[in-house]
Amino acid sequence: MFKEYFQYKGISFPGLIYSPRALEAAHNDFQVLDDDVFNVTYQKSGTVWMLEILSLIRSDGDPSWCRTVPNWDRAPWFETVLGLGRAQRNPPPRLISSHLPVQLFAKSFFSSKAKVIYTVRNPKDVLVSLYHFAQIFRPYKDPGSLDQFLDKFLEGDVPFGSWFDHVRGWLQLRGRDNFFCISYEELQQDLRGSVERLCAFLGRRLGPAALDAVVANASFAAMRRNRMSNFSLSPAFILDVRRTPFLRKGIAGDWKNHLTAEQSARFDRVYRERMAGLGVAFPWDAP
Ligand code: A3P
Repeated sequence: MFKEYFQYKGISFPGLIYSPRALEAAHNDFQVLDDDVFNVTYQKSGTVWMLEILSLIRSDGDPSWCRTVPNWDRAPWFETVLGLGRAQRNPPPRLISSHLPVQLFAKSFFSSKAKVIYTVRNPKDVLVSLYHFAQIFRPYKDPGSLDQFLDKFLEGDVPFGSWFDHVRGWLQLRGRDNFFCISYEELQQDLRGSVERLCAFLGRRLGPAALDAVVANASFAAMRRNRMSNFSLSPAFILDVRRTPFLRKGIAGDWKNHLTAEQSARFDRVYRERMAGLGVAFPWDAP
């Protein structure tokens, strides 16, 4: 099948689940409520992991909601055609997911008290994860070889645009009371401590047993088992998880198994150039 992307304000989106009209509505008309909590990421940075953590925090660690309602209904991606309607229908307080770059995000957020949690991940791992995902997610073009896809990724010639622009754009919100940034690597290193920090940001008090339950039910193994979280319910014409599971490896540093020294150096050159002056030390920047 020949797949085309359309452009919305300079960013590529695949057809089928996105449309210019829904993007326009998400951007201009979506009414953000003060008690909304947004789970925002560049794709393949730990979106569904954070979605699970936030769902579990919301339920004081009780996994019933996560085990009975698909993640895309618990925290819909409000920029998709179906997710927009779902987000509008869900009762407050709402959890909402998004991969939108900041300049396309709901305008009404910026005059609200709603909260954004922005999860970042080592872009080399994002590249590798996206490379595998593009092979099973039908709306996406075939990524070709990893070497070809690496160049496209570095140029930002992929859906949702450049990782560098996305991260730089969202991190402009640092310092705001309603913005919280955390990395996939921090979640990996200390999930319990990360959940505690998230609870503090959200103004939720969870006792030790509830914290333990959040950590246990948001583990890679538990999520892989949960049909409401592992995308085994999604139709194969959208996502073919029989080929590669959505929850593929769930580790930090898998890029080392995929990129050659030359490819890694090529990546580093662009990374240094594009991230210069941002003034943020990410876990993967450590020597
Ligand atoms: P890999 O492809 O490297 O395994 P997103 O949800 O933004 O699309 O990100 C998907 C990535 O997050 C996948 O990475 C997936 O395995 C990983 N992931 C999802 N849940 C996880 C969990 N509980 N623990 C660790 N990684 C998780």
